[in-house]
Amino acid sequence: MSIKILKGNIVYSETSKKLKTCYGYLVVDGELIEGVYETLPECYQDYEVKDLGDRIIIPGLYDLHLHAPQFPYRGLGLDMQLMEWLDTYAFPTEARFSDLEFAEKYYDRFVQEMAKNGTCRAVIFSSIHSESTKLLMNKMEQYGVGGFVGKINMDMLCPDYLNEGTDKSLEDTERWILETKDKYDLVKPCITPRFIPTCSSGLLQGLGKLANKYNLATHSHISEDIDEMKIVHDRYPELDSDGEVYDKFGLLTNRTVMAHCIYPTANEMDLLKIRGVTIAHCPQSNGNVAAGIPPIRKMLNKGINIGLGSDISGGYSLCIFRAMSEAVYLSKLKWLESKKKDDFLSVAEVFYMATKAGGKLFGNVGSFEKGYIFDALVLDDSNFYVDQENLTIEERLERIIHLGDDRNIVQRYVSGKKY
Ligand code: GUN
Ligand code: FE
Repeated sequence: MSIKILKGNIVYSETSKKLKTCYGYLVVDGELIEGVYETLPECYQDYEVKDLGDRIIIPGLYDLHLHAPQFPYRGLGLDMQLMEWLDTYAFPTEARFSDLEFAEKYYDRFVQEMAKNGTCRAVIFSSIHSESTKLLMNKMEQYGVGGFVGKINMDMLCPDYLNEGTDKSLEDTERWILETKDKYDLVKPCITPRFIPTCSSGLLQGLGKLANKYNLATHSHISEDIDEMKIVHDRYPELDSDGEVYDKFGLLTNRTVMAHCIYPTANEMDLLKIRGVTIAHCPQSNGNVAAGIPPIRKMLNKGINIGLGSDISGGYSLCIFRAMSEAVYLSKLKWLESKKKDDFLSVAEVFYMATKAGGKLFGNVGSFEKGYIFDALVLDDSNFYVDQENLTIEERLERIIHLGDDRNIVQRYVSGKKY
């Protein structure tokens, strides 16, 4: 038995409705949560207690959608809508990751920045290049950022310099899967068609088979943009939506995460729910590339699991506190747009999305309930105080969500280990 005991203000979610809070003790056995206690049980009296004072302990934050090779131009080139933005900014930047020296420099910085911003696990698009994708996976294991990484696939409607060709795309992907699937403790490969427009039906079919053969997670974009959806509709006029196209090729499972879903049809929402797909809501990106405001409340009401993503570099910030804050903000615009019918999101709901809902994809992570794997952040919000203000723990968390950043994160644990 390897017992670790932290004492402080503990906050986590069991449900999306209400935060669980406790000033007390978090007991961890190895990498698993043993329990949260107001008074330390007799049997732990002889163990050392790490007293964190007035600091706040929360579960790890999870970023369910971002593009590592777009990191070099975060905060730049956000003056266009999606399809033009891809051609002008995203594709040329991603092409640079064929160069391993360039990739080494940027991926090292990228993963360190994710860690600094409190991301414990993430679902990441790399570029089409297997070698630099492996480099990215190595860095994640090294710096303690877990999750899924995808060498992406494209065989049409992209510049020639990024067009892999169908057979080569599938062969390279399978080779890379075999090289990486058992290599790491924290990181796994994941099937990553960029989105339907850049993937032929043959490629999507082959990727569906690989996802099934190796029991892998799948990650892509869904129903993000009107122009994108028109391309899909023209190619598959007999199908209802992006969701039906992915489903036709076996790419919607309970191991699938799809970014955005701004314009889902009613059938598509039902399908996502039936298949157990998780949606990555990326509010900052949705505004930046002027894609639209997703109907998050409607999808939650359908029972769809929804986590949060930064979508670097459609989004410019790696900080998942920003995603929480902006999810609340965008939901208020949606509430107005719905004539005040679709309730906006609460702090408890966005915190749940960033922790327990996102964590579901990776296994039992994202909460402090007994048996969960111990991923956690220790937060210090003393920079917000001028005088003793007697805020509740819920109020302090709300303020961190809206005002906090990496400076408020003082410790980060992943799978029981401090990084
Ligand atoms: N759809 C296809 N590629 C991309 C991308 O790089 N970013 C976003 N936001 N949407 C996409
Ligand atoms: Fe994206």
